[in-house]
Amino acid sequence: MGIKQIIAVASAKGGVGKSTICANLASYFAKDFKVGILDADIYGPNQHILFNIINSKPEVQTIDGQKFFMPIEVNNIFLNSMGFILEKNKAAMWRGPMLSGAIKQLKKLTQWGNLDYLFIDMPPGTGDAYLTVASEIKPNNVLLVTSQSKLAVQDTIKSKIMFEKLKIPIIGLVDNMSYSIYPNSDDEVFDFPEINLENEIGLKVLGSIPRTKDLANFNPNKLSSFFEPLYNELIKVT
Ligand SMILES: Nc1ncnc2c1ncn2[C@@H]1O[C@H](COP(=O)(O)OP(=O)(O)O)[C@@H](O)[C@H]1O
Ligand SMILES: [Mg+2]
Repeated sequence: MGIKQIIAVASAKGGVGKSTICANLASYFAKDFKVGILDADIYGPNQHILFNIINSKPEVQTIDGQKFFMPIEVNNIFLNSMGFILEKNKAAMWRGPMLSGAIKQLKKLTQWGNLDYLFIDMPPGTGDAYLTVASEIKPNNVLLVTSQSKLAVQDTIKSKIMFEKLKIPIIGLVDNMSYSIYPNSDDEVFDFPEINLENEIGLKVLGSIPRTKDLANFNPNKLSSFFEPLYNELIKVT
């Protein structure tokens, strides 16, 4: 059986919410499916921090003389991360081939077991890490995260061109921090520039996620209902 669907959560831009979307979406899927997360952000792995397992290390098992990592199960999600493997703050100084090698190993040497969905939390950029993920991990689909800023839009267009070249299908966009909901209010406040992302980028928006205090402080024990429409769209197309 193996892994049925690999979905990369990506954007060339840092800080648009890839890790936040990945953690929330994986949690939402985990209520109905067997789900894993591979944190491939070699520059700044975050998933082990979001899921409060910063001091955990994956168990190593030797099978036929080869050492394998057992992913850490947390909140019904199987997680492996560069964050468990790299010495803190070292990878930031690595060169491309070392980074690519580390991502390759992390995917190959993790005993994922049978999964319905493996979400990949991608690093920012369009460099070596992306080429490695494309050639070695071969995601079935990419979900691009953007926000409504001129800069994010331009970087998302770059990501789109790159994934098209790599022949990895893009399932659509997440419009993150699309509007704000402030504490003690239910009002949707449209305080960001309103850009028509579908026209500008040429991809379908599968979900719009607000900027909220709760989303800024991810709680792995609490599902965010803002992810339900995105979840419903994704299960239709994956
Ligand atoms: N919808 C949101 N509402 C509030 N804060 C958010 C939201 N999405 C992301 N953030 C915050 O923005 C920052 C960048 O998000 P992150 O997920 O780390 O982005 P990336 O992985 O693309 O670099 C983090 O501090 C995160 O908590
Ligand atoms: Mg991130």
